[in-house]
Amino acid sequence: MLDLRIDADRSGRVSDTRYVLSDLAVGACLENMRIQGQSLGYTAHMETFPHPQDPLWAARIHWHRDTPHPTPEPLAAAITQRHTDRRFPWRGPIGADIQQRLTAQAESIAGQKLYWPTLPRERNAALRVIRQAETLRFKSPMLHEELFSTVRFSAGWRKVCEEGLAPATLAVEPPMRPLFQSLRHARAMQMLNLFGAASMLGWRSAGLPLKLSPGLCLLVTAGKERADVVAGGRALQRVWLEATLAGLSVQPYAAAGVLGLGFIPIESRYQDALSQLGDAMDALCAPGYGLVFLRLGYARSAVAFRNGRRALSSFGTKE
Ligand SMILES: Cc1cc2nc3c(=O)[nH]c(=O)nc-3n(C[C@H](O)[C@H](O)[C@H](O)COP(=O)(O)O)c2cc1C
Repeated sequence: MLDLRIDADRSGRVSDTRYVLSDLAVGACLENMRIQGQSLGYTAHMETFPHPQDPLWAARIHWHRDTPHPTPEPLAAAITQRHTDRRFPWRGPIGADIQQRLTAQAESIAGQKLYWPTLPRERNAALRVIRQAETLRFKSPMLHEELFSTVRFSAGWRKVCEEGLAPATLAVEPPMRPLFQSLRHARAMQMLNLFGAASMLGWRSAGLPLKLSPGLCLLVTAGKERADVVAGGRALQRVWLEATLAGLSVQPYAAAGVLGLGFIPIESRYQDALSQLGDAMDALCAPGYGLVFLRLGYARSAVAFRNGRRALSSFGTKE
């Protein structure tokens, strides 16, 4: 038996209010364990919470030894390969067969689906909402502080680290690095925002890469409860693993869906922008709710830097 708990020291901050990001991570983690267990001949029987008395207690898994012949699970091979790629441009197209494979993975989790904006009107609406959300992350001092606090500038631009975002994985062009690094200071960001820096960054981090990538899809959950978000995390992981097996590069954009849920306690002057974002996300694929966009395409080369992983021994306690 295994209990999965959200780490109180690493959760609950700004964008993780009501544990939205943690619940996505819980879902991804559960699915990884289930897939890996299955490939080793174990079936997972999962009770997913949150527990009524303990909001950090996310799930309990009971493992059962399968028949002597474990069911092969091709996704297991992709678990250690899956990573974020923030580079562009990417090649395409993403064929109908690949779209079907990814969609089938999302739909294998009850209540989850993928939305593929294909008409120019649909694609423009999606791009607009992603860009607005990314821009807000640089405008709101609270979101800005949270964003930059995850970047480990101490690792430099040529090393990775086992936790947090290594600057080397951010695909910032070498001449722009000093300026980008200076933006971690709230005052520098605020000053440059007087000249439209947040909009420029929204365009550079989302608008441009999305325009120069052939694929975009949105993971849609049935509802907005915590259990829906956990299920969304499970589907997200399966889609991303399948994309990895198909040789695709993936960059997730979660800000629009997460901020649009409306739980984030940011500055009152940005509350209007936040509720407009929520309305736009609600309209995009009602009656479901779009949680995480995935930018997809074929990169010309393998990434040089990937974020590391925490040592296994740093997780968990035995009882
Ligand atoms: C739910 C979720 C949301 C994410 N949102 C973003 C995002 O909005 N923009 C981005 O560049 N990366 C995003 N990422 C990528 C993470 O920063 C990345 O997964 C993490 O640093 C680990 O690196 P890896 O994916 O290479 O293992 C997201 C990842 C997840 C799982």
